Amino acid sequence: MRILFIGDIVGSIGRDMLSEHLPHLKKKYQPNFTIVNGENAAHGRGITEKIYKSFMTQGVDFVTLGNHTYGQRDVYDFLDQDIKMIRPANYPAEAPGVGMKIVRFNQDKLAIINLQGRAFLPAIDDPFKKADELIEMARKETNHIFVDFHAETTSEKGAMGYYLDGRVSAVVGTHTHIQTSDNRILPQGTGFITDVGMTGDYDGILGINKDEVIHRFITGLPVKHVLHETGRGVLSGVYIELDKAGKTKKIERILINPDQPFIGH
Ligand SMILES: [Fe+2]
Ligand SMILES: [Fe+2]
Repeated sequence: MRILFIGDIVGSIGRDMLSEHLPHLKKKYQPNFTIVNGENAAHGRGITEKIYKSFMTQGVDFVTLGNHTYGQRDVYDFLDQDIKMIRPANYPAEAPGVGMKIVRFNQDKLAIINLQGRAFLPAIDDPFKKADELIEMARKETNHIFVDFHAETTSEKGAMGYYLDGRVSAVVGTHTHIQTSDNRILPQGTGFITDVGMTGDYDGILGINKDEVIHRFITGLPVKHVLHETGRGVLSGVYIELDKAGKTKKIERILINPDQPFIGH
């Protein structure tokens, strides 16, 4: 089974990067499942029904989210519908949406799980305990299990990778918006990367307009984040190949920016 995963799509420049590069990435990797993290797709905060639908018409099969899931109010009801989009599973059960879905491709099934870390992020439920619970449910149907762990710290993401090693097919980190170069296969066969990176403005800071971010650090004053939605873009992703038993055979990084088209490392 072949999975293409693209990290946090930020604003219209991120959406444009996806439209520009998805066709050739799909041609190269021939993925059975293309998954994107869409938590910043609508001006950096959340996603709308319209953007979700445009992803689907472009050939995306599934959308994961993160701490900006609830950034657009009009998506609340939509999250509870029968859609191919999930939010972090360790949000309270009362919050709209669910954190795991199982998708089919011919005879194959893939369970997709979204979790969120708790270090430097809101104090929601324990993602480790929630992972145990969901993996037990998923394993009744498939041994192909993909986890998007949306978290801030490298240590919490590393801990999740090793905690789930051998029990899921892959754990990919999202949220920091900077791709790490530690893509690897853990000892029990789980594909892992600390952070996939983001898809958006190459000249901003994590996809945000740099001037406001610099101003905040210089003055210590609160500032409103502004998105820089035109200009040079970056696309960050990973390609993962699984064997029949659901173990990772290969995990490659994809990083396309004006300085380096970097595919397949
Ligand atoms: Fe993000
Ligand atoms: Fe995030």
